[in-house]
Amino acid sequence: MPNGPATSGDHVRRLADGNQIPRLGLGVWQVPDGPGCENAVRWALELGYRHIDTAQAYGNEASVGRALRDSGVPREQVFLTTKFYPGRRDPQAEVEQSLRRLGVDQVDLYIVHWPQNGPTWAWPGLERARELGYARSIGISNFSASQLEQVIAIADSPPVINQVQFSPFEYRRRLLEECEGRGVALEAYSPLGTGRHLRNQTVAGIAQRASRTPAQVLLRWCLQRDTVVIPKSTHRERIEENAQIFDFSLSDEDLASLDQLDRTGGTAAARESKWW
Ligand SMILES: NC(=O)c1ccc[n+]([C@@H]2O[C@H](COP(=O)([O-])OP(=O)(O)OC[C@H]3O[C@@H](n4cnc5c(N)ncnc54)[C@H](OP(=O)(O)O)[C@@H]3O)[C@@H](O)[C@H]2O)c1
Repeated sequence: MPNGPATSGDHVRRLADGNQIPRLGLGVWQVPDGPGCENAVRWALELGYRHIDTAQAYGNEASVGRALRDSGVPREQVFLTTKFYPGRRDPQAEVEQSLRRLGVDQVDLYIVHWPQNGPTWAWPGLERARELGYARSIGISNFSASQLEQVIAIADSPPVINQVQFSPFEYRRRLLEECEGRGVALEAYSPLGTGRHLRNQTVAGIAQRASRTPAQVLLRWCLQRDTVVIPKSTHRERIEENAQIFDFSLSDEDLASLDQLDRTGGTAAARESKWW
């Protein structure tokens, strides 16, 4: 697959702990456990994706693991993320359950899903999971710049990723700068606005001029803003389309027009409203 994702060069990012993460992954939030999830993951792996993003809260780790095994792609070639559900108390015990459901010995990335009950209490458990070899890298999600700062202050092994809602419409510029300044890669979730941003006129106009699709424009913007990006789709043709983002560039002018769509004021916050 010449234009799709791969595992070298521009397609990967080195994390502060030395591990590498593919810059494109498949997200599986809101994909029920079962054939739909297995198909999406299997298609993505067939199409060259080497990065899957799931979570304990998604309830579909078993399907992700089944599709991974059935794909025949060697385990060490696939970057697998799961997230600690912070309604529970013990990140180590919970990752042991994740590994059992996923049918793997180790995940590549284990992250605190959101900072419920404060940003720091779960971190020692994440570090333990890493020390025990259950996770190669550890990180956080939905943490603002100041919450990241608090984790770094107590960490023996600091987070290497902050996964946050990020797109031209949620261009959290100060959060991105703070993360980069601390050696933390920003991973962009909901890069298509869970589908909502695809209908925007500015995005559509740029897509038309570039002979690309709105999804490709939004995902390419994330790459050019130096983030890792994890679009979700359960349709094979869209999974394929979303991977065709390494063979074109947006001009500085197009990037600037997309930047203007930001509704967060370039915030250092991770969310405008919380669900926890
Ligand atoms: N850490 C967190 O708290 C958190 C929160 C939200 C999301 N995430 C992660 O980020 C991933 C992506 O975010 P998201 O699920 O909110 O949504 P998203 O990737 O922004 O958008 C997905 C939506 O767009 C549609 N879509 C995808 N590709 C398309 C294309 N090429 N053309 C037209 N429509 C397309 C999908 O429909 P179909 O599936 O029907 O194709 C789906 O409705 C999640 O799956 C999850 O892994 C993490």
